[in-house]
Amino acid sequence: MKIAVGCDHGGYALKEAVIAELRKRGIEIVDKGCADTSSVDYPDYALAVAEEVASGACERGVLMCGTGIGISIAANKVKGIRCAVCHDMFTAAMSAEHNKANIIALGGRILTPEQAAEMVGIWLDTPFGGGRHQSRVDKISAIEEKYFK
Ligand code: RB5
Repeated sequence: MKIAVGCDHGGYALKEAVIAELRKRGIEIVDKGCADTSSVDYPDYALAVAEEVASGACERGVLMCGTGIGISIAANKVKGIRCAVCHDMFTAAMSAEHNKANIIALGGRILTPEQAAEMVGIWLDTPFGGGRHQSRVDKISAIEEKYFK
């Protein structure tokens, strides 16, 4: 599996721990930045990771900003992206089981690096539930078809 990773300065503190967790699992990482805690704009990193996932170059993505909110809003503007902001183990698992989230967004000002790494692991390990959840994901895709050019 190949996963794209990106963050702004607010999420940078989580990045190394998340990358270490992915490496431990033998996952290939595409690091889209940023490279330190200098102030940057989260939509740039959201777009870079979302394009990797939407194009099929990477199967999933991990995004990190201060809260996970801004970077997820931006990523969800890309057709085909289901980016879920998760704040704990339960939401990380549900984003995979119910929402088939192909990107997880995490907050560097909310989570410790250890929590973030564990949540990424749970998100990867939790299978999509299918069935009624697939019908709902299909309805999300139908909204995209209606409103995305
Ligand atoms: C940057 O200060 C901060 O706004 C950003 O990391 C994120 O929290 C936005 O949602």
